[in-house]
Amino acid sequence: MHIHVLGAGAGGGFPQWNCNCFNCDGLRKGAIKATKRTQSSICVSSDGVNWVLFNASPDVLQQIQDFPALQPARAMRDTGIQAIILIDAQIDHTTGLYMLREGSVKREIYCTDMVYGDLTSGNQALNILGHYCGINHHQVPIDGKTSFTIPNVPNLKFTSVALKSAAPPYSPHRNDPQAGDTIGVLIEEISTGKKCWYSPGLAEVEPHLPELMNQADCIMVDGTFWTDTEMIDLGLMTKTARSIGHNPQTGKNGMIEDLDKFGMNGKSVRKVLIHINNTNPILREDSAERAILNEHKIEVAFDGMDIIL
Ligand code: MLT
Ligand code: MN
Ligand code: ZN
Repeated sequence: MHIHVLGAGAGGGFPQWNCNCFNCDGLRKGAIKATKRTQSSICVSSDGVNWVLFNASPDVLQQIQDFPALQPARAMRDTGIQAIILIDAQIDHTTGLYMLREGSVKREIYCTDMVYGDLTSGNQALNILGHYCGINHHQVPIDGKTSFTIPNVPNLKFTSVALKSAAPPYSPHRNDPQAGDTIGVLIEEISTGKKCWYSPGLAEVEPHLPELMNQADCIMVDGTFWTDTEMIDLGLMTKTARSIGHNPQTGKNGMIEDLDKFGMNGKSVRKVLIHINNTNPILREDSAERAILNEHKIEVAFDGMDIIL
């Protein structure tokens, strides 16, 4: 299985257009050891030709330009993207849908009922896309047991599960969380049995998750914030990381502590943080915070990262 990181940044990317935080300013000036990151998306393939896109980031056109495997190669109008799985309805995961409107072949969209509801009411992205290329909406099961496959990508199997997280700020149920607002997905390559867990929005490793996550050869999880009060401390927001659906890396029940529990039975597991906010000190490759992750054998995703399982 080939997992390609198209965008490892959280909403806003890195640097963020209007941000003067230490990291964003430092990156623009070349004063810190870090690389830019576009917004949150990966793609996955078994044969290297047919890909499933996870999320459609506002940066999707740039991401396609940077990754030839997704580009047209077989017909006048063509793409390596066979289907799109949306893990939530957030702006950084769905705005790129507008950019994928050309052509007459319907886009195959896999998402939960909650996400479909958000993207056909307050935010009309799927309705609008439907007016251009048309869409086929496939309802994604969220019981963590029922797997699904995608016709043109037959060697991959997906098992998704509802996560406790937050619906987007524009959603009518932003403050009234519903099962299916956000999912995590276990991706399995059927022929090899290799598995990857992907959850760029994860507020906590809930009791039902280790059963799925333990199966994975690679765990890609929410790397948004270093501390729970990161945005409050910088005066940028009044909410904690957890309250907007992102488990911070540090502190009790933080992501480092959670990730330390995986791979303890001798199985080699890659642990990768993704969806990293531009304020997070782990973006600086020579930071003390990055050194702590290194000690815990936790990697920080970057744009263009390839993971072959
Ligand atoms: C999130 O991950 O919490 C959101 O994408 C934030 C945002 O849309 O800016
Ligand atoms: Mn986000
Ligand atoms: Zn910033």
